Amino acid sequence: MIISELRIVGSTQTNVVMHAELVRVAQRALKKRPPEPRKEGLGQLVYPFDPDLAWAATTYMRTPTRVVWDVYRSTAQRLEPLYDELVADVAADARAFGRDRDGISVEARRVEEFAAGERQVVGVVKNALIDGMDKRGLRWHVEPERPAHRWVARLDEAGEVVVSIDLGGGSLSQRGWRRDAGEAPLREHLAATLVMLTRFDPRKDALVDPMCGSGTIPIEAVLSARGMPRRSATLRALGLGPAGDAAPLFGDSRPLVVGCDHDIGVLGHAKSNAAEAGVTGDVTWQRADIAQLAPETIAEIAAERGRPAPTSGVLLSNPPYGERMQEAELGPLYYEIGRAAARFRGWRAAFIVASPLFERVVSDVLGQARIKKPLANANLRAYFFMWDL
Ligand SMILES: C[S@@+](CC[C@H](N)C(=O)[O-])C[C@H]1O[C@@H](n2cnc3c(N)ncnc32)[C@H](O)[C@@H]1O
Repeated sequence: MIISELRIVGSTQTNVVMHAELVRVAQRALKKRPPEPRKEGLGQLVYPFDPDLAWAATTYMRTPTRVVWDVYRSTAQRLEPLYDELVADVAADARAFGRDRDGISVEARRVEEFAAGERQVVGVVKNALIDGMDKRGLRWHVEPERPAHRWVARLDEAGEVVVSIDLGGGSLSQRGWRRDAGEAPLREHLAATLVMLTRFDPRKDALVDPMCGSGTIPIEAVLSARGMPRRSATLRALGLGPAGDAAPLFGDSRPLVVGCDHDIGVLGHAKSNAAEAGVTGDVTWQRADIAQLAPETIAEIAAERGRPAPTSGVLLSNPPYGERMQEAELGPLYYEIGRAAARFRGWRAAFIVASPLFERVVSDVLGQARIKKPLANANLRAYFFMWDL
């Protein structure tokens, strides 16, 4: 069956944040509000396909891991009927997907329940696309390394095969700026999700990560404040969106962003990542122990940058957790985090952390968190906490 839906995929529990980001992006880039999505599971949003919305989501969103265009769906349970149905759909499809002589790649995801192996599913979908296009007079071939467009076949929750075009050309979490990982870096899309959850307003808030490691949160905060575009070869090959390079959505945004860590080595990683991301000079990196961090430190940094001391802002971090440190060390560190946050009156303090000890210790200092939300961090069951200070 020929279908046409825009699917935005992210971490579990991020549907609300992803939709909020798409609203912000679409209002700025397209001057229109996207329709309400259908939610599939805890981390997938589905919209009626709209080429402008697809372009804007792929170019500007930072919270999803993938943006795909679902184009065919089949209830076939075996390879032969799947091939027959797909060839017929592709041949009868009036939509233009790329050009003659395009190279494509096909990937299968979550097809374990299908009555054939992953490689067989890939082979059949690939053959059906090439043979179906051939009937339309377009000669496509397989090009695994540098395809003009990447296709994905997966089983949905109802067990149907959905064939999609991966509009971002792979995982959107990898932005291309990470040169040095540090010890336990946050994934980039998760850092962007945290920034959205804090409702960081770059026009009036400062953002400080007091334990910044390789700098993921400060770098993503600047990039999302500025609405930096991503280039997608697939969008270009499909002719989606305006010709030429997309401009930043908020190119003149100059938020006050600071990354601190007590480890001078990881700050070196953060600086080289920031250079790669094109935000050198937008983040101040400061060696500091959280026990000493105070609003005066940030006021001095603001003054050096010719700014008034911020009266509101966000402390946002992913503190060390149990796997690397013992509880005996973590308790005192979490207590210092609570005490440091308490010094920032009028700010918000937010953390993603997988240790249950964190909530107990920090709540003793700051009271109950205003927001406590489950949010996976890699394979860890973590929580996002936010306190009004
Ligand atoms: C889980 S890592 C943060 C990873 C970071 N978000 C990233 O994406 O790379 C925790 C960081 O806390 C830092 N840290 C631990 N104790 C600290 C302290 N007392 N003061 C400041 N930083 C500290 C560590 O050096 C480490 O870089």
